[in-house]
Amino acid sequence: MSLRLHSHATASGKVILVGEHAVVYGQPALAAGLPDGLHLDAAPLPDPAAPSRLTIADWDIDLVLTPESEHPVARATLEVLGFCDGPLTGWTITGRSRLPCRAGCGSSAALSVALARLALGDQAETNETVAAALAGERVFHGNPSGIDNLVATTGGVVRFTKGHPARNIALKAPIPLLVIPTGIPRSTAAQVAKVRARLETMPSVIRPVLSAIGHAADAAIESIESCNFKQLGEIFTVTHELLSSLDVSCAALDALHAEVLAAGALGAKLTGAGGGGCLIAIPPASPAPVVEAVRARGIEPLFVEVR
Ligand code: PMV
Repeated sequence: MSLRLHSHATASGKVILVGEHAVVYGQPALAAGLPDGLHLDAAPLPDPAAPSRLTIADWDIDLVLTPESEHPVARATLEVLGFCDGPLTGWTITGRSRLPCRAGCGSSAALSVALARLALGDQAETNETVAAALAGERVFHGNPSGIDNLVATTGGVVRFTKGHPARNIALKAPIPLLVIPTGIPRSTAAQVAKVRARLETMPSVIRPVLSAIGHAADAAIESIESCNFKQLGEIFTVTHELLSSLDVSCAALDALHAEVLAAGALGAKLTGAGGGGCLIAIPPASPAPVVEAVRARGIEPLFVEVR
Protein backbone atom coordinates (compact mmCIF):
# COMPACT_ATOMS: atom_id res chain seq x y z
CA MET A 1 0.00 0.00 0.00
CA SER A 2 1.25 3.49 -0.88
CA LEU A 3 1.05 5.79 2.13
CA ARG A 4 1.13 8.95 0.08
CA LEU A 5 -1.11 10.74 -2.35
CA HIS A 6 0.20 13.12 -4.98
CA SER A 7 -0.44 16.72 -4.03
CA HIS A 8 -2.51 17.64 -7.11
CA ALA A 9 -4.58 15.95 -9.83
CA THR A 10 -7.02 17.02 -12.52
CA ALA A 11 -9.58 15.31 -14.74
CA SER A 12 -11.90 16.35 -17.56
CA GLY A 13 -15.67 16.44 -17.42
CA LYS A 14 -17.67 15.09 -20.36
CA VAL A 15 -20.63 15.89 -22.54
CA ILE A 16 -22.28 13.75 -25.16
CA LEU A 17 -21.95 15.73 -28.39
CA VAL A 18 -24.36 13.58 -30.43
CA GLY A 19 -25.94 10.16 -29.95
CA GLU A 20 -27.46 10.06 -26.47
CA HIS A 21 -30.42 7.72 -26.02
CA ALA A 22 -29.86 6.14 -29.46
CA VAL A 23 -26.62 4.68 -28.04
CA VAL A 24 -28.74 2.57 -25.67
CA TYR A 25 -30.10 0.81 -28.79
CA GLY A 26 -26.73 0.13 -30.41
CA GLN A 27 -26.23 3.38 -32.35
CA PRO A 28 -22.87 5.22 -32.24
CA ALA A 29 -22.41 8.27 -30.01
CA LEU A 30 -19.73 10.93 -29.64
CA ALA A 31 -18.52 12.08 -26.23
CA ALA A 32 -16.19 15.01 -25.60
CA GLY A 33 -13.95 15.81 -22.64
CA LEU A 34 -14.46 19.18 -20.93
CA PRO A 35 -10.96 20.38 -19.97
CA ASP A 36 -10.32 21.49 -16.38
CA GLY A 37 -13.33 19.53 -15.15
CA LEU A 38 -12.07 19.04 -11.61
CA HIS A 39 -8.90 19.91 -9.69
CA LEU A 40 -8.08 18.05 -6.48
CA ASP A 41 -5.40 18.97 -3.92
CA ALA A 42 -4.29 16.54 -1.22
CA ALA A 43 -2.43 17.26 2.02
CA PRO A 44 -1.49 14.86 4.83
CA LEU A 45 -3.19 15.20 8.23
CA PRO A 46 -0.92 15.22 11.32
CA ASP A 47 -2.37 11.83 12.35
CA PRO A 48 -2.08 9.23 9.53
CA ALA A 49 -4.78 7.12 11.24
CA ALA A 50 -7.35 9.97 11.34
CA PRO A 51 -10.25 9.64 8.89
CA SER A 52 -9.63 11.45 5.61
CA ARG A 53 -11.88 14.30 4.54
CA LEU A 54 -13.12 15.31 1.07
CA THR A 55 -14.36 18.84 0.45
CA ILE A 56 -15.58 20.19 -2.90
CA ALA A 57 -17.44 23.38 -2.03
CA ASP A 58 -18.54 23.96 -5.66
CA TRP A 59 -20.52 20.71 -5.47
CA ASP A 60 -21.67 21.06 -1.82
CA ILE A 61 -19.52 18.11 -0.81
CA ASP A 62 -17.92 18.01 2.65
CA LEU A 63 -17.46 14.44 3.86
CA VAL A 64 -15.51 12.55 6.47
CA LEU A 65 -14.43 9.32 4.79
CA THR A 66 -15.12 6.34 7.02
CA PRO A 67 -15.89 2.74 5.97
CA GLU A 68 -19.33 3.16 7.62
CA SER A 69 -20.31 6.12 5.42
CA GLU A 70 -23.21 5.38 3.10
CA HIS A 71 -22.79 8.58 1.08
CA PRO A 72 -22.06 7.49 -2.51
CA VAL A 73 -19.28 10.07 -2.90
CA ALA A 74 -17.55 8.79 0.26
CA ARG A 75 -18.00 5.17 -0.84
CA ALA A 76 -16.75 5.90 -4.36
CA THR A 77 -13.72 7.79 -3.01
CA LEU A 78 -12.68 4.92 -0.76
CA GLU A 79 -13.31 2.41 -3.60
CA VAL A 80 -10.99 4.28 -5.97
CA LEU A 81 -8.26 4.82 -3.37
CA GLY A 82 -8.57 1.18 -2.25
CA PHE A 83 -8.36 -0.06 -5.87
CA CYS A 84 -5.11 1.92 -6.23
CA ASP A 85 -3.73 0.60 -2.90
CA GLY A 86 -3.69 4.23 -1.74
CA PRO A 87 -4.07 5.49 1.84
CA LEU A 88 -7.63 5.28 3.18
CA THR A 89 -6.96 7.55 6.18
CA GLY A 90 -4.80 10.53 7.09
CA TRP A 91 -5.47 12.92 4.18
CA THR A 92 -7.49 15.97 3.43
CA ILE A 93 -8.59 16.27 -0.20
CA THR A 94 -9.95 19.56 -1.49
CA GLY A 95 -11.51 20.07 -4.90
CA ARG A 96 -12.67 22.88 -7.15
CA SER A 97 -14.73 22.68 -10.30
CA ARG A 98 -16.52 24.97 -12.73
CA LEU A 99 -18.77 22.12 -13.90
CA PRO A 100 -22.32 21.72 -12.67
CA CYS A 101 -22.73 18.41 -10.85
CA ARG A 102 -25.47 15.84 -11.58
CA ALA A 103 -26.19 17.61 -14.88
CA GLY A 104 -24.78 15.20 -17.47
CA CYS A 105 -21.32 16.83 -17.43
CA GLY A 106 -19.46 13.81 -16.08
CA SER A 107 -18.86 15.14 -12.58
CA SER A 108 -18.74 11.66 -11.02
CA ALA A 109 -16.27 10.44 -13.65
CA ALA A 110 -14.11 13.55 -13.18
CA LEU A 111 -14.05 12.84 -9.44
CA SER A 112 -13.20 9.16 -9.93
CA VAL A 113 -10.41 9.91 -12.42
CA ALA A 114 -8.90 12.75 -10.36
CA LEU A 115 -8.89 10.51 -7.26
CA ALA A 116 -7.19 7.72 -9.24
CA ARG A 117 -4.56 10.24 -10.35
CA LEU A 118 -3.99 11.46 -6.78
CA ALA A 119 -3.11 7.87 -5.91
CA LEU A 120 -1.37 6.74 -9.12
CA GLY A 121 0.11 10.01 -10.39
CA ASP A 122 -0.76 11.66 -13.68
CA GLN A 123 1.92 9.68 -15.55
CA ALA A 124 0.05 6.42 -14.95
CA GLU A 125 -1.05 4.46 -18.04
CA THR A 126 -4.47 5.52 -19.37
CA ASN A 127 -5.79 1.95 -18.94
CA GLU A 128 -4.71 1.85 -15.31
CA THR A 129 -6.37 5.20 -14.53
CA VAL A 130 -9.56 4.27 -16.40
CA ALA A 131 -9.82 0.94 -14.55
CA ALA A 132 -9.29 2.55 -11.14
CA ALA A 133 -11.86 5.24 -11.91
CA LEU A 134 -14.39 2.60 -12.98
CA ALA A 135 -14.35 1.31 -9.39
CA GLY A 136 -15.78 4.71 -8.36
CA GLU A 137 -18.19 4.97 -11.29
CA ARG A 138 -19.68 1.57 -10.34
CA VAL A 139 -20.70 3.03 -6.97
CA PHE A 140 -22.50 5.92 -8.72
CA HIS A 141 -23.96 4.15 -11.75
CA GLY A 142 -24.05 0.39 -11.12
CA ASN A 143 -22.85 -0.94 -14.46
CA PRO A 144 -21.76 2.10 -16.49
CA SER A 145 -20.60 1.90 -20.12
CA GLY A 146 -17.19 3.26 -19.09
CA ILE A 147 -17.25 6.07 -21.64
CA ASP A 148 -17.41 8.84 -19.01
CA ASN A 149 -14.28 7.74 -17.18
CA LEU A 150 -12.44 7.15 -20.47
CA VAL A 151 -13.20 10.69 -21.67
CA ALA A 152 -12.50 12.14 -18.21
CA THR A 153 -9.03 10.55 -18.50
CA THR A 154 -8.12 11.24 -22.13
CA GLY A 155 -10.15 14.38 -22.99
CA GLY A 156 -10.74 14.94 -26.72
CA VAL A 157 -13.58 13.32 -28.67
CA VAL A 158 -14.40 9.64 -28.60
CA ARG A 159 -16.83 7.62 -30.77
CA PHE A 160 -18.39 4.72 -28.94
CA THR A 161 -20.90 1.99 -29.61
CA LYS A 162 -22.23 -0.36 -26.97
CA GLY A 163 -20.07 -3.48 -26.72
CA HIS A 164 -17.28 -2.21 -29.01
CA PRO A 165 -13.95 -0.53 -28.27
CA ALA A 166 -14.12 3.28 -28.29
CA ARG A 167 -12.26 5.19 -31.03
CA ASN A 168 -10.51 8.54 -30.60
CA ILE A 169 -11.37 11.21 -33.16
CA ALA A 170 -8.33 13.29 -34.14
CA LEU A 171 -9.00 17.03 -33.75
CA LYS A 172 -7.31 19.46 -36.14
CA ALA A 173 -8.65 22.42 -34.17
CA PRO A 174 -10.28 22.81 -30.76
CA ILE A 175 -14.11 22.65 -30.81
CA PRO A 176 -15.64 25.74 -29.17
CA LEU A 177 -18.62 24.87 -26.99
CA LEU A 178 -20.95 26.68 -24.63
CA VAL A 179 -22.32 24.48 -21.87
CA ILE A 180 -25.51 26.01 -20.49
CA PRO A 181 -26.95 24.49 -17.31
CA THR A 182 -30.73 24.68 -16.81
CA GLY A 183 -30.30 24.02 -13.09
CA ILE A 184 -33.10 21.45 -13.39
CA PRO A 185 -32.25 18.04 -11.91
CA ARG A 186 -33.13 14.94 -13.93
CA SER A 187 -33.00 11.20 -13.64
CA THR A 188 -31.16 9.39 -16.44
CA ALA A 189 -33.08 6.18 -15.68
CA ALA A 190 -36.47 7.96 -15.95
CA GLN A 191 -35.46 9.60 -19.24
CA VAL A 192 -34.23 6.30 -20.71
CA ALA A 193 -37.56 4.72 -19.64
CA LYS A 194 -39.51 7.44 -21.51
CA VAL A 195 -37.71 6.57 -24.75
CA ARG A 196 -38.38 2.87 -24.22
CA ALA A 197 -42.08 3.61 -23.67
CA ARG A 198 -42.29 5.60 -26.89
CA LEU A 199 -40.38 2.92 -28.80
CA GLU A 200 -42.77 0.25 -27.52
CA THR A 201 -45.84 2.33 -28.43
CA MET A 202 -44.77 3.03 -32.01
CA PRO A 203 -41.68 1.04 -32.98
CA SER A 204 -41.94 1.67 -36.71
CA VAL A 205 -41.85 5.45 -36.11
CA ILE A 206 -39.27 5.61 -33.32
CA ARG A 207 -36.72 3.13 -34.72
CA PRO A 208 -35.91 5.41 -37.68
CA VAL A 209 -35.51 8.35 -35.26
CA LEU A 210 -32.95 6.37 -33.27
CA SER A 211 -31.09 5.40 -36.41
CA ALA A 212 -31.18 9.03 -37.65
CA ILE A 213 -29.50 10.07 -34.39
CA GLY A 214 -26.82 7.43 -35.02
CA HIS A 215 -26.27 8.81 -38.56
CA ALA A 216 -26.05 12.30 -37.05
CA ALA A 217 -23.22 11.11 -34.77
CA ASP A 218 -21.24 9.89 -37.77
CA ALA A 219 -22.03 13.05 -39.75
CA ALA A 220 -20.72 15.03 -36.77
CA ILE A 221 -17.39 13.20 -37.06
CA GLU A 222 -17.05 14.43 -40.65
CA SER A 223 -17.83 18.01 -39.54
CA ILE A 224 -15.29 17.80 -36.71
CA GLU A 225 -12.61 16.31 -38.97
CA SER A 226 -13.12 19.08 -41.53
CA CYS A 227 -13.38 21.79 -38.78
CA ASN A 228 -16.81 22.71 -40.19
CA PHE A 229 -18.38 23.99 -36.97
CA LYS A 230 -21.31 25.60 -38.81
CA GLN A 231 -22.30 22.16 -40.04
CA LEU A 232 -21.68 20.66 -36.60
CA GLY A 233 -24.05 23.30 -35.22
CA GLU A 234 -26.73 22.29 -37.73
CA ILE A 235 -26.32 18.67 -36.73
CA PHE A 236 -26.78 19.73 -33.08
CA THR A 237 -30.01 21.57 -33.92
CA VAL A 238 -31.47 18.71 -35.95
CA THR A 239 -30.51 16.22 -33.22
CA HIS A 240 -32.23 18.36 -30.59
CA GLU A 241 -35.46 18.09 -32.59
CA LEU A 242 -35.01 14.33 -32.97
CA LEU A 243 -34.45 14.01 -29.20
CA SER A 244 -37.55 16.16 -28.58
CA SER A 245 -39.54 13.67 -30.63
CA LEU A 246 -38.36 10.99 -28.18
CA ASP A 247 -39.94 13.04 -25.34
CA VAL A 248 -36.62 13.76 -23.58
CA SER A 249 -36.48 17.56 -23.87
CA CYS A 250 -38.40 19.91 -21.55
CA ALA A 251 -39.80 23.46 -21.63
CA ALA A 252 -36.65 25.01 -20.10
CA LEU A 253 -34.33 23.28 -22.58
CA ASP A 254 -36.57 24.20 -25.54
CA ALA A 255 -36.77 27.85 -24.43
CA LEU A 256 -32.97 28.07 -24.05
CA HIS A 257 -32.55 26.31 -27.39
CA ALA A 258 -34.72 28.89 -29.19
CA GLU A 259 -33.04 31.75 -27.31
CA VAL A 260 -29.44 30.84 -28.21
CA LEU A 261 -30.33 30.19 -31.86
CA ALA A 262 -32.08 33.56 -32.07
CA ALA A 263 -28.95 35.17 -30.57
CA GLY A 264 -26.76 33.69 -33.31
CA ALA A 265 -25.52 30.31 -32.03
CA LEU A 266 -24.47 28.03 -34.91
CA GLY A 267 -26.54 25.25 -33.36
CA ALA A 268 -27.61 23.82 -30.02
CA LYS A 269 -28.98 20.68 -28.43
CA LEU A 270 -29.68 19.08 -25.10
CA THR A 271 -26.87 16.84 -23.91
CA GLY A 272 -27.09 13.57 -22.02
CA ALA A 273 -30.35 12.34 -20.60
CA GLY A 274 -32.30 15.61 -21.11
CA GLY A 275 -35.38 16.62 -19.12
CA GLY A 276 -33.14 19.26 -17.46
CA GLY A 277 -29.35 19.12 -17.15
CA CYS A 278 -27.54 21.12 -19.82
CA LEU A 279 -27.85 22.50 -23.32
CA ILE A 280 -24.69 22.64 -25.46
CA ALA A 281 -24.28 25.24 -28.20
CA ILE A 282 -21.69 26.07 -30.85
CA PRO A 283 -20.99 29.77 -30.37
CA PRO A 284 -20.63 32.12 -33.35
CA ALA A 285 -17.29 33.90 -33.97
CA SER A 286 -18.49 36.75 -31.72
CA PRO A 287 -20.21 34.87 -28.91
CA ALA A 288 -21.16 37.92 -26.76
CA PRO A 289 -24.85 38.13 -27.86
CA VAL A 290 -25.36 34.43 -27.09
CA VAL A 291 -23.66 34.74 -23.71
CA GLU A 292 -25.73 37.85 -22.90
CA ALA A 293 -29.00 36.12 -23.91
CA VAL A 294 -28.22 33.26 -21.53
CA ARG A 295 -27.15 35.59 -18.72
CA ALA A 296 -30.41 37.51 -19.16
CA ARG A 297 -32.12 34.31 -17.96
CA GLY A 298 -29.92 34.32 -14.85
CA ILE A 299 -27.75 31.45 -16.15
CA GLU A 300 -23.95 31.56 -16.38
CA PRO A 301 -22.79 29.61 -19.45
CA LEU A 302 -19.47 27.81 -19.42
CA PHE A 303 -17.19 28.35 -22.44
CA VAL A 304 -14.93 25.39 -23.19
CA GLU A 305 -12.63 24.34 -26.00
CA VAL A 306 -12.61 20.61 -26.55
CA ARG A 307 -9.08 19.57 -27.53
O1 PMV B 1 -26.93 12.62 -18.79
P1 PMV B 1 -26.07 11.42 -18.64
O2 PMV B 1 -24.62 11.75 -18.54
O3 PMV B 1 -26.54 10.49 -17.55
O4 PMV B 1 -26.13 10.61 -20.04
C1 PMV B 1 -27.10 9.66 -20.34
C2 PMV B 1 -26.86 9.12 -21.73
C3 PMV B 1 -28.00 8.21 -22.22
O5 PMV B 1 -27.69 7.89 -23.58
C4 PMV B 1 -29.32 8.92 -22.18
C5 PMV B 1 -28.09 6.94 -21.39
C6 PMV B 1 -26.96 5.97 -21.58
O6 PMV B 1 -26.85 5.06 -20.73
O7 PMV B 1 -26.22 6.05 -22.57
